[in-house]
Amino acid sequence: MTRAPFDPAIVYNKQIISRTGVPMFSSRMNGKELSGIRKMFDLAMVDSVNLGLGEPDFQPPKEAIDAMENAMRGGLNKYGPTNGILPLREAIAFRMKKYWKDASPNHVVVTTSGTEALFSAMLTIVDSGDGVHYPDPRFVMYEPHTKILGGVAIPYKLAIENAFRPDVEEMERSMTDHSKMIIVNSPNNPTGGMITRQDRDDIVNIAREHDLFILSDEVYDSIIFTGSTHHSFLGQYEKAILANSFSKLYAMTGWRVGWLAAENELIRKISLAHYHLVACPNTPVEYGALAALKTGDRHIDTMVREFEERRDVITKRINEIPGFHALAPPGTFYSFPSFDLHGSKGRLKAEELSMELARNGLICSPGTAFGPNGEYHLRFSFVNNKENILKGMDILEEVTKRYRS
Ligand SMILES: Cc1ncc(COP(=O)(O)O)c(C=O)c1O
Repeated sequence: MTRAPFDPAIVYNKQIISRTGVPMFSSRMNGKELSGIRKMFDLAMVDSVNLGLGEPDFQPPKEAIDAMENAMRGGLNKYGPTNGILPLREAIAFRMKKYWKDASPNHVVVTTSGTEALFSAMLTIVDSGDGVHYPDPRFVMYEPHTKILGGVAIPYKLAIENAFRPDVEEMERSMTDHSKMIIVNSPNNPTGGMITRQDRDDIVNIAREHDLFILSDEVYDSIIFTGSTHHSFLGQYEKAILANSFSKLYAMTGWRVGWLAAENELIRKISLAHYHLVACPNTPVEYGALAALKTGDRHIDTMVREFEERRDVITKRINEIPGFHALAPPGTFYSFPSFDLHGSKGRLKAEELSMELARNGLICSPGTAFGPNGEYHLRFSFVNNKENILKGMDILEEVTKRYRS
């Protein structure tokens, strides 16, 4: 039989059908788009102030770069252990002991990013028809990952009125017979909100009661500001899975390295999903990540101090702009203010406003890029110097003048 060339014949019901009558692509990928944040970049001008990015404007520690280079020059360019090299798993386990005193290298799988960590965990747990509870607004991957696996999305709301903390009673009421997993992300992207110790314990109780897994995305656990405390799910519950990443920890988003941690049996099972996705992490990058961990908190502290100063600058300035209300986020590098402005077509929506800002030289993300509850919010990443942040806020003030009633 001759194979049909790559020439889709018809589009039927949003599905491309090949000439032999078979759907060209898997239904799993139907309706999947790149994140809405990308649209803003297409409108950007050369000298735009960019507060749209989800990555620190710092470089990884020099020690990490040297170690990765040395690993490559020293011939460490081959496949490595599926779960990651032992010294790195030891260093990660040591770091996690502040949350879980029993953490050991056997509880760790090094992944090729936080994104892979999340997907490997979900691939292990989520079957067709399983309910996955995740925040709205939320990190852009939770919904597509759930749907690719045939899971049922059950968003729980994060509202500015509740400091972007989950309403655990509402979460409990949303449980169904098919509920399988709760995803928690604290500190949270895009809101900058964090759960309290009580929230954490209440969520563990709900999970225990309904026999659910908790997938705890803690990739911002190092970016916590004065007076706030991170409450990890690690070691709190036998069905808790931690997903973490070096991306924000050491400003190495392009290196693609993260990790998973869970109790023995659970992590063994997840390791199989990870193996079938990527076989093993990236060997030279692992040596770089190990060297970064050995520098301790020095690099992180410098970055977090700078983010905290910028957090104070941006929060104060946003709140001076009529129609805007911003909380001071206790962690992350995101501000997620709400706004109430009116144009000729009624109340101004997040996407329209962020496009107008982009046309005027300020790049940010519309809250709706993170889910329907992000409507009437913008996300500003304070990953730019204070001068540019203030310049960006001047643009915000100027552009929004025309929408005030
Ligand atoms: C909440 C959250 N989780 C996970 C990730 C994924 O991080 P990475 O894949 O770079 O490790 C991100 C990245 O922005 C994030 O914001």
